[in-house]
Amino acid sequence: MKHLLSIEELSADEITNLIDDAMRLKAWRGRDTERPLAGQTWAMIFTKSSTRTRVSFEVGIRELGGFTMFLSSNDIQLGRGEPIKDTARVLGRMVHGVIIRTFAQQDVIDFAKYSKLPVINALTDDEHPCQILADLLTVREKLGGWEGRKFAFVGDGFSNMTRSWMWAAKRLGFQLKVASPQNCQPPAAFLKALDCDLVSVCEDPREAIAGADVINTDVWLSMGQEGQKEKEAEFKGFELNSSLLTGAAKGHIVLHCLPAYRGKEISEELLENHADTIFQQAENRLHAQKAILVELTRA
Ligand code: CP
Ligand code: NVA
Repeated sequence: MKHLLSIEELSADEITNLIDDAMRLKAWRGRDTERPLAGQTWAMIFTKSSTRTRVSFEVGIRELGGFTMFLSSNDIQLGRGEPIKDTARVLGRMVHGVIIRTFAQQDVIDFAKYSKLPVINALTDDEHPCQILADLLTVREKLGGWEGRKFAFVGDGFSNMTRSWMWAAKRLGFQLKVASPQNCQPPAAFLKALDCDLVSVCEDPREAIAGADVINTDVWLSMGQEGQKEKEAEFKGFELNSSLLTGAAKGHIVLHCLPAYRGKEISEELLENHADTIFQQAENRLHAQKAILVELTRA
């Protein structure tokens, strides 16, 4: 593995190995003496806000012996229009790896191409692979694994989280039902490219949740869509709450990548009832990303 740009481009073995490594790193945290990133500096270029991703990468890289350099795109020439391929070629001669959070997936792909450095996608409009790996680690810890489990995603059918989950279902072979309002369904062209019978879409959250072991949601308006009030209005009846979850499987878990908007995609009560899982999921960003960094350093 040279980069982590998407879940789409990972194999089942690569995903499983990363989760195994993350579990090992989590169990050994504070006691392991290996420093695979010793002497390395990793740049973190962020065009969008972040709490979890930024903190978990900064802590993780330091724990692995490396240094971080946080570069808000507003503070570097990229924000004034310097092309991504020039930024990539400059950083490629100075740092050892790059973590990028931005809008276009193509920018992450171009950065990898021009910098020749290991590049990690820390969220684009298309995918959020680091989050999915942390979520899978949480499913492994809470339910013992994903084999034979039924997953539901209730929310925007074409957000980065939904797309990454759909690729994860295909790669790992679990069933995923996506419930989204009529105007927020995954586009037919995406589903055709996905080409996976295990993923189905519907407009009724109860239908997706029926019998589900893992119920997932995310914000209705992703970063960059904040002003789209008309889109938000589409989600009436899509709030995850205890009444909506009555048909879920016994022992189900609820996941939310956070930040959460209570009273919108999830009720205060449901979030607090599942806070143990949801904040474990947030912590798992650290362990999953350390596994990614170790793997990229090994390559
Ligand atoms: N879940 C997630 O990526 O959180 P941040 O936006 O805070 O990094
Ligand atoms: N879909 C959300 C995820 C936030 C972690 C967004 O892109 O804003």
